[in-house]
This record gives sequence, structure tokens and C-alpha cells, in this order.
Amino acid sequence: MKRARIAGVGHYVPERVVTNFDLEKLMDTSDEWIRERTGIVERRWVEEGETVSGLGQKAATMALERAGIDVSDIECIVFATMASDHEFPGAGCFLQEKLEIPGIPALDVRNQCSGFLYGLSVADMFIRTETYRNVLLVGAEIQSTGLDLTTRGRDMAVLFGDGAGAVVLVASDEPERGVLTTHLHADGKYTKKLWGQYPSVTHHPRVAPEMLEGDGIYPKMEGRYVFKHAVTRFPEVIHEALKATGYSIDDVDLVVPHQANQRITEAVAQRLGIGMDKMFSNIHKYGNTTAATIPICLSEARAEGRIKDGDLVALAAFGSGFTWASALVRW
Ligand code: COA
Repeated sequence: MKRARIAGVGHYVPERVVTNFDLEKLMDTSDEWIRERTGIVERRWVEEGETVSGLGQKAATMALERAGIDVSDIECIVFATMASDHEFPGAGCFLQEKLEIPGIPALDVRNQCSGFLYGLSVADMFIRTETYRNVLLVGAEIQSTGLDLTTRGRDMAVLFGDGAGAVVLVASDEPERGVLTTHLHADGKYTKKLWGQYPSVTHHPRVAPEMLEGDGIYPKMEGRYVFKHAVTRFPEVIHEALKATGYSIDDVDLVVPHQANQRITEAVAQRLGIGMDKMFSNIHKYGNTTAATIPICLSEARAEGRIKDGDLVALAAFGSGFTWASALVRW
């Protein structure tokens, strides 16, 4: 059977750096509170005119270069994001136009912080079933334009950043290399623990001036509730991937978790019984970039030599839905 091998990975973050001190000027918060509770020091926010597909294009271009694959050889785009450039169509189509590869499918995956791993499982299945040989998988987000930048929205506003990551997956005949396993979960009982209410088709009309008067257009989260579930689900779903492949946590060279909160990452390391040296983290620089965190981490980890050829890497995510997922990848 074919395996999906990660031939190249790239990322792009906007140039505009927003520090915790910058946020102090917008809302009642402090650098100390944000660092202590989340580990975030700064994040990147887009300038007016930048698009999700544009961030994705830059990440994809780096991934293609590193893979040594021409864009014309890509047979399918899978784009994980919460936010397209416009209400519709999906960001995958906007990206396809920019990459000038018309005709191939462009599939959007909308699973929030688990989006990249949901997308990875789809891309992996396309390759395993020999539907496509070269798949471009992108995770990209612009969160900053949708945040409540007043004290009312401070619990969410300090957490999120913008950015993009991309991987090029290619069909390979090496059975022990590439995406070894993926595991996806969701529990819709918790949809309203972390969600965006408006715009909504249940409202007539779906976009109305009164929506702007309240805070329903901004993302909402029960932070402690999300935290508690995340620290349980991350280790659980990593163990599921290990069990499916017969590996133990000691075989894993690096764990790349979705970057939600440094305290979540530390709690997960503790529950897995591994040191922080085995956990990749860059949340201090970028905050939570939703579907983009894992591919940005992979791109940086690879460039820093933290992921070497032959390494076994565990990926895990948790987010709105609730959704959670894992994958084991042999580089
Ligand atoms: N700056 C200063 N104070 C803030 C603040 C901010 N940005 N945000 C919230 N506070 C205040 C709260 O109003 C509260 O004040 P009170 O005690 O007077 O009511 C206090 O800080 C503590 O709030 P709480 O929500 O209990 O803090 P916490 O320790 O749970 O940390 C989060 C908040 C959001 C950092 C944390 O709950 C978290 O990370 N949750 C998971 C988030 C996550 O992973 N989301 C994405 C999933 S993919």
C-alpha cells in the first residue's frame, strides 16, 4: 500500500509583531498575566489587505521549494482554515487561483484547531487509495480581524495570532515512512463551549445591524472548561496513535502539539511522562494560530534540526467542536 510521505514543509507569518505590551494599550490586561497564564509573549497580525489564501500561498511556496516539487505536479489542494478570504467560496479555491493550477480539486476543511490533522487524514487517505500522488495540505488563519480588542474580549483576544503552514505529501512505497496513522474525534455536545455565534443562518437575515451592538460576532470560550478537556484529550489521542502502531512514547522523538497554551503543553508532557525537551513549542512567538500551528511548528522544527530524517513525530490537536485528533509520522 502507498504511504503519504511529507516531502516538504513551509510556513509564513505576517511581518507585523504585536507584543503583550501593545495589547496593554488596547485593553485591561498585562504582559505578566498573559505570559503566566499562556506563555505567549507576542503574536503576528496581518495588515489590511492580507488574505488567508495569500498567507497560505507563501507557506505553500516554501513547502514546494523544500520538497523540490513543481507546483504543476500538485494534484489536489486540502486547505484547513476557519476563515476563508470571503464568506464563500473556500480558501482552497482562492489559493488555487494564486498558484495557477486550475482544474484540480480544492477541498476546504473546517475543523478549527484540529483542522490541520483532519486535513492530514483526508490527504493521507487520498494517497493510500492511490487517488492522488501529490497533495498540498495548507493550514492558514487570520484570527486578528475577528477579535474583540476591548477589555470585554480580552480572554480570547490575547490568545490568537495569524499565520500559515503547508506540507507537500507525496505517494511513497516505503511502508515504515510517512504518515503511519491518523485518529479523529469530535463531540458536538460541547459546540457552544468555544464558538462564534454570528453571522448565523438561524437569524433572519443572517447578518443584521443589531449583531454589532452585542458581542455575538466575537468568538466565545469557557476557558477553564476548554483547558480541562484539552489536557485529557491530548494524551489520550496520542496514546491511541501509539497503540494503533505498536510504538511506545519512548520511541517518539518529538511531540508537536497544537499550540493552545504553554500550560496545556506542559500538563500534556507531564501526563505523557516525557520531558519538555521532547515537546515542540513556539507559542511565545505566535500565540494560537488555529489550523496553522502544527504545520508552522513542523516547518520550524525541521529547519532547526529538531526533526531529522527517520524521526518518529507525534502530532496532536484539540479545539472547538470539541474536536481532537492525532497522527504519527515517520520522517
Ligand atoms: N488579562 C487580564 N486578565 C484576564 C484576561 C486577560 N487577557 N483574561 C481573563 N482575565 C481575568 C478574568 O476576567 C478573571 O478575572 P476574575 O478572577 O476577576 O473573574 C481572571 O483573569 C482569571 O480568569 P480565568 O479564565 O479563570 O483564567 P485562567 O487561568 O483559566 O486562564 C485562559 C484563562 C483562557 C488562558 C485559560 O483558561 C486557557 O488557556 N484555556 C484554554 C484555552 C484554549 O486552549 N483555547 C483554544 C483551544 S484550541
